[in-house]
Amino acid sequence: MKVLVIGGGAREHALCRSLSLDPDVTSLHCAPGNAGIAEVAELHPVDALDGAAVAGLAADLGADFVIVGPEAPLVAGVADAVRDRGIDCFGPTREAAALEGSKAFAKDVMAAAGVPTARAYVCTTPEEIDTALDAFGAPYVVKDDGLAAGKGVVVTEDLAAAREHALSCGRVVIEEYLDGPEVSLFAVTDGDTVIPLQPAQDFKRALDAGEGPNTGGMGAYSPLPWADPKLVDEVTRTVLQPTVDELRRRGTPFAGLLYAGLAITSRGVRVIEFNARFGDPETQVVLARLKTPLAGLLRAAATGQLAAFPELRWSDGAAVTVVIASYNYPDTPRTGDPITGLADVAEKDSHAYVLHAGTRLADDGRVVSAGGRVLSVTATGPDLGKARDRAYRALDRITLDGGHHRTDIAARAAGL
Ligand code: AMP
Ligand code: GLY
Repeated sequence: MKVLVIGGGAREHALCRSLSLDPDVTSLHCAPGNAGIAEVAELHPVDALDGAAVAGLAADLGADFVIVGPEAPLVAGVADAVRDRGIDCFGPTREAAALEGSKAFAKDVMAAAGVPTARAYVCTTPEEIDTALDAFGAPYVVKDDGLAAGKGVVVTEDLAAAREHALSCGRVVIEEYLDGPEVSLFAVTDGDTVIPLQPAQDFKRALDAGEGPNTGGMGAYSPLPWADPKLVDEVTRTVLQPTVDELRRRGTPFAGLLYAGLAITSRGVRVIEFNARFGDPETQVVLARLKTPLAGLLRAAATGQLAAFPELRWSDGAAVTVVIASYNYPDTPRTGDPITGLADVAEKDSHAYVLHAGTRLADDGRVVSAGGRVLSVTATGPDLGKARDRAYRALDRITLDGGHHRTDIAARAAGL
């Protein structure tokens, strides 16, 4: 099968890496891709937000199957444009992707489906904002209703800061603070059948010990040795399946990757957010453990064939990924900095590999940074401690001027 992946981050590199190992994939393409993906797939320039351009590229290539990675093209209806050309596509419709694109829509679906989540108010006026902030008290959780690339959420003890963010948003969701560890659980669904993947944990804050500003995610690991073994079954039954059923009932079935961001609170599991695509950096560790070939799974979801899909196979081991970010990320990152040590990792670390996020090949052939999150250094091992050691050993071989990373990814889970 000829496969085209849309996107160009570490998530797409992880997807392409798995697809390149799948014997059913005879030809692999990515648009626009990045310097690392170029090693496993043929790259093509495209405006990923332009449905006609993406569908045209897929048709020109004779692609059998298209996978849309990031949320922005999904919310813009790019998967619909590909399907309209008669090409199978993994990724929800524009309407179903509103589950991620609008926090207010997600809250409405959850309420209708009886899915446990934080109590929330949707506010549009200063009066409504003040009433909501007052009702919940500190810590305040204030979320821009629309897509904001992981930067629309402010969690703060400071009432003035909460109010200022709320007023800057237009439509804003203000909600109850959820205490407890976070878990990311992904499920592949065809709009009817739901197949959960293995859970992972992301590290959202920029600095060690959960300090600093929110980011897109600075690292991840899987499995979660501390989690209840029944967690996946419970979340499938109480969150994932009811949400998929509700969207089907509304006439906007969700087929693709349903990502539940969860808080494990003292009162039970609560949904923090839904996303309509694979998470980054959790995908890097989840796919590192998935033994079932990826293309067949995703194509079965895209074509309504999941009910008959065989049980997924997983490695018993662990995976850890650590993100190297640019100088000044998550504020406006500096780009164009040279990266060294990549070949060293490829040569010396048999259980570690580097997935590229914001990178590109400069004119002189060097790999340079091209975004906020630059690399996702990933390793596997028999347990989290070993996977973690391998990831950090590989990371130590790499240099990026002004770059930064967290040093505590998976440390607590590994018993350190
Ligand atoms: P979101 O974009 O909704 O995932 O929010 C980004 C991050 O903000 C989450 O991963 C949490 O760490 C935090 N957050 C969001 N909503 C809440 C909440 N209701 N209570 C506590 N923390 C939250
Ligand atoms: N890991 C967070 C996200 O993908 O949104």
